[in-house]
Amino acid sequence: MRITDQPGKAMGATVEGFDHVTASDADIETLKQTVYTKKIAVLKNQDLSPQAFLDLGKRLGRPETYYEPMYHHPEIEEIFVSSNVPENGKQIGVPKTGKFWHADYQFMPDPFGITLIHPQVIPEKNRGTYFIDMGTAYERLPGGLKKEIAGTYCTHSVRKYFKIRPHDVYRPISEIIEEVEQKTPAVRRPTTFTHPMTGETVLYISEGFTVGIEDAGGTPLDEHLLNRLFEATGQLDGTFEHPGIHLQGFERGDLLVWDNRSLIHRARHTTTPEPTVSYRVTVHDEHELYDGITAA
Ligand SMILES: [Fe+2]
Repeated sequence: MRITDQPGKAMGATVEGFDHVTASDADIETLKQTVYTKKIAVLKNQDLSPQAFLDLGKRLGRPETYYEPMYHHPEIEEIFVSSNVPENGKQIGVPKTGKFWHADYQFMPDPFGITLIHPQVIPEKNRGTYFIDMGTAYERLPGGLKKEIAGTYCTHSVRKYFKIRPHDVYRPISEIIEEVEQKTPAVRRPTTFTHPMTGETVLYISEGFTVGIEDAGGTPLDEHLLNRLFEATGQLDGTFEHPGIHLQGFERGDLLVWDNRSLIHRARHTTTPEPTVSYRVTVHDEHELYDGITAA
């Protein structure tokens, strides 16, 4: 196994010669440390079957199966499928996922630490995923803004981006909204937490899932404050040229592993839809998202 920094990039490392079947426990630990410190590991030459992809994920942690079954791979339910390519005339998984800034499962009670993506069908022109390191973004906040958010909490919900399912057709929208709020009630989290693996302070907000900010006593704060945070961290930049934004490319055989505590990400915007298929496995490592999250 050979690990090198991605040249000329603020984050990311390339990992060559990794085989999850023969990797030692020490190799796995080294790979995970690379993910926590470099934020993204690009494993090269991984042409894996769905089962082998899941097996690789299991070496890094305990898989989390997505709560909405329409995303599941038909044979391996732990695999989340993003696809706009029908198979035998049938939709597999869900098309156009994640075209908004978010951390995976940010709206859930117990988000996982690691996301793995194995692209299957790769677009010709607009390939890649955008990332922002919210640890670095916190460091770069003006001192005044850091002070303003100290001791505050944010609420996160899937309500803006919940995807209507085939069986929702003809249901009243109010009924669907009620179901979303009952099944996935908004969660309240400290605006920043300490990354349990690196000790960094992470600003845990995203334009897609963060819906409110409040003081320690639960009194809502001006929502303009959230907008200033989105602005400062690059999440409102439609040109994607903000210095905090990293575009991660990939090619056939790549498998991306990233730190879902520090990073928020967003699927690349394309005006002309190209065939795209990717498989995702998500795993819990030895720690909760931050220590004590499920005790609250
Ligand atoms: Fe995502």
